[in-house]
Amino acid sequence: MSSILIQGGTVVNADRAFKADVLTQDGKIVAVGTDLQAPAGTTVVDAGGQYVMPGGIDPHTHMQLPFMGTVTMDDFYTGTAAGLAGGTTSIIDFVIPNPQQPLLEAYQTWRGWAEKAAGDYSFHMAITWWDESVKRDMGTLVNEEGINSFKHFMAYKNAIMCDDETLVNSFKRCLELGAMPTVHAENGELVYLLQKQVAEMGITGPEGHPLSRPPMVEGEAANRAIAIADVLNVPIYVVHVSCIEAAEAICRARARGQRVYGEVLAGHLMIDDSIYRHPDFATAAAHVMSPPFRPKGHQEYLWRGLQSGNLHTTATDHCTFCAAQKAAGKDDFAKIPNGCGGVEERMAVVWDEGVNTGRLTPSEFVAVTSANTAKLFNLYPQKGSVSVGADADLVVWDPAGSKTLSAKTQFSKGDYNVFEGRTVKGIPSHTLSQGKLVFVQGDLRAERGAGRYLKRPAFGSNFAAAKLRSEVLTPTAVKR
Ligand code: URP
Ligand code: ZN
Ligand code: ZN
Ligand code: ZN
Repeated sequence: MSSILIQGGTVVNADRAFKADVLTQDGKIVAVGTDLQAPAGTTVVDAGGQYVMPGGIDPHTHMQLPFMGTVTMDDFYTGTAAGLAGGTTSIIDFVIPNPQQPLLEAYQTWRGWAEKAAGDYSFHMAITWWDESVKRDMGTLVNEEGINSFKHFMAYKNAIMCDDETLVNSFKRCLELGAMPTVHAENGELVYLLQKQVAEMGITGPEGHPLSRPPMVEGEAANRAIAIADVLNVPIYVVHVSCIEAAEAICRARARGQRVYGEVLAGHLMIDDSIYRHPDFATAAAHVMSPPFRPKGHQEYLWRGLQSGNLHTTATDHCTFCAAQKAAGKDDFAKIPNGCGGVEERMAVVWDEGVNTGRLTPSEFVAVTSANTAKLFNLYPQKGSVSVGADADLVVWDPAGSKTLSAKTQFSKGDYNVFEGRTVKGIPSHTLSQGKLVFVQGDLRAERGAGRYLKRPAFGSNFAAAKLRSEVLTPTAVKR
């Protein structure tokens, strides 16, 4: 029996905040209330003046990802451990089969890699090709392996890109299965063309990266994916919405009543595209990710999306490549491995720029860092809620604590920090995973292999409604 009493804090859930103690036992929350008594042997954590919130869920990470000829620096152990240090207790990563690779084979490979994770994890499955076996395996993954979301890369031509035929087939299958289709929205044909055009202008450095992926490239793909989802009556989740054009596509569809959800990355909320013109190649290349950081102005629009409820989750797309790996694109920006870190910093930067500026309330912070992801991907209230019966994945948040973010002090194995030098106010003092203290006042106690695979059932509430709606709307033939 391991028991922890978090005493004297303010519990923050997505719906309300209230003064209460939280008692955990054997990995679960067993009581939330005032003046709770600690059974013998209980560890007491003093949360006076602090918030007690559900651990963060990062719905978009790539640990140990083989990508663009190399493999990310953070594996499932170092990446999830870094997350715990930042108050993130669960991740949803991606299984990405090579085109023609059986889905179940890729799934088993990723499950093996993830066994070393220190925090709980789950997977979205990428659909990178299509035939009857893919359709069949989607069913097996949903019904037997607890995968309820499928990812479609609309970019990365000649690699993992989906064409419209695959999108349509897969979205239709998602509706049948009660699983959420998700898209990386960028028009891969345009990116392919623009990369060549930019290179022909003699621009080979990282400043060519955003030129080859302007905002409308993302806007077009977001609109297209949303339109396909609308015709098929399936909900859709757009990952890493980085610009006004894509966010507007979501807002328009939602105003029409469509079930469209949007994810924003911590980096896209804070960083603008001027960094790509940095004279130091390594600094500029360290920021090469897709979609790229956007011109000033887009960031505030994304914040407004979170405030208005038109965008729903915050993520990181944590995908770390070191300077030596980024140097593969020294003479050609299109060869710079795409990806940046952030799993360790997301909670603190969203708090600092969100709550400390009045853009978000603490409850809205919980919604966009944890609860909304849990709801959309059917993990709620096991995750995303401080309530009796929920997993004891908790963060004790010190709103007065502060820290200067830096690659020199981060736990992530990446050698760069896109938030370098930023001083944030509001940091985790304690993180609990499965009722164990895994981070205490700067001391990381992550345990290799302690994380569990989270099965996510199909037919979350939005799907039951979507399926019913499409049945109600089924047209009939005229009897003649
Ligand atoms: O640049 C990025 N985002 N790398 C990871 C793969 C993806 O597109 O999500
Ligand atoms: Zn992506
Ligand atoms: Zn990604
Ligand atoms: Zn390296």
